[in-house]
Amino acid sequence: MNWKYKALLQRLLAIIPFGEKVNFQLQKFSGGNKLSHVDEYVNSGVRIVKLLIENGFVDIKNKQILEVGTGWLPTFPILFSLLGAGKIYTYDHVPHLRFTMTKSTLTQIKKSFPFISKQLGITVEKLEDKCSKAMNTEDLTRLFEFLNVQYRAPEDATYTKIPDNSLDLFFSYAVLEHVPENIVIGLTQEALRTLKQGAFYYNYIGLHDHYVSFDKKITKVNFLKYPEWLWKILAKNKITYLNRLRNSQFVKIIEDCGFEIVSINTFVDSKSLKAIRKMKIDKKFSDFELEDLATTCSEILARKTIV
Ligand SMILES: C[S@@+](CC[C@H](N)C(=O)[O-])C[C@H]1O[C@@H](n2cnc3c(N)ncnc32)[C@H](O)[C@@H]1O
Repeated sequence: MNWKYKALLQRLLAIIPFGEKVNFQLQKFSGGNKLSHVDEYVNSGVRIVKLLIENGFVDIKNKQILEVGTGWLPTFPILFSLLGAGKIYTYDHVPHLRFTMTKSTLTQIKKSFPFISKQLGITVEKLEDKCSKAMNTEDLTRLFEFLNVQYRAPEDATYTKIPDNSLDLFFSYAVLEHVPENIVIGLTQEALRTLKQGAFYYNYIGLHDHYVSFDKKITKVNFLKYPEWLWKILAKNKITYLNRLRNSQFVKIIEDCGFEIVSINTFVDSKSLKAIRKMKIDKKFSDFELEDLATTCSEILARKTIV
């Protein structure tokens, strides 16, 4: 179906009274399918831990971790807790989490224990022991207490109230592309304030046109055609927000805030690269390298400089 129908429905929901509540119910309705993403998130979580270890994180044990944008399924906080993290703060503007879905996430993660064990060298027995104790809890508060997870929602992660220089990792997954540029800067400054010297700031950013999953006829770079005024109407509102910042802009923000870049893994989509060569892109993007425009996801690991 044409992606503009979805964009316009979201736009309508963003301006009518109770539109956010209607959207919340629609999201809840589709929530069951989200569980199918847990395996992919476990893979990503394992990859993130390995990347951190490769870059000197030493061991996740007893580390203080903060996640921005929990979303609907707390896969990363649960995974990091099972691996032995000391405390995990997870922030969201919107309290999406529910006990049943959280327990289902745990059940789904359990299926990947042999994989996690093989990849990260922790025994399945250890993972199972902590997991079964967590499964015996009867509400979200108890479950999270047991896992040393603090769910802070609704709260804004640009102002966490966490003490200066206290965290070992500040991270987000599929969040930075959904917030205005000043919030990307705000989150990065908050990361810099709360992280210990030498500690890590990790972001996975989806740089593609997210409507591609709804409309098979468009490419992952389709949204770069539109002038800013039109894009604002279509996809910058309370319900949906895609800032269209490119990878080089995220890297610049992170560096300008004072971080040292440790590694950048990008995926340049060949189909998008082909499309961008033929497409009339908006003048807002005319100064960018074609590879930068066709980069559809990026994983940026940065470190707070040791002084
Ligand atoms: C697209 S969702 C991604 C959720 C999850 N990380 C995932 O990958 O499924 C982005 C989430 O970030 C949250 N968010 C955006 N800005 C935030 C902020 N400043 N503080 C806390 N949460 C924020 C939104 O409410 C939303 O739940």
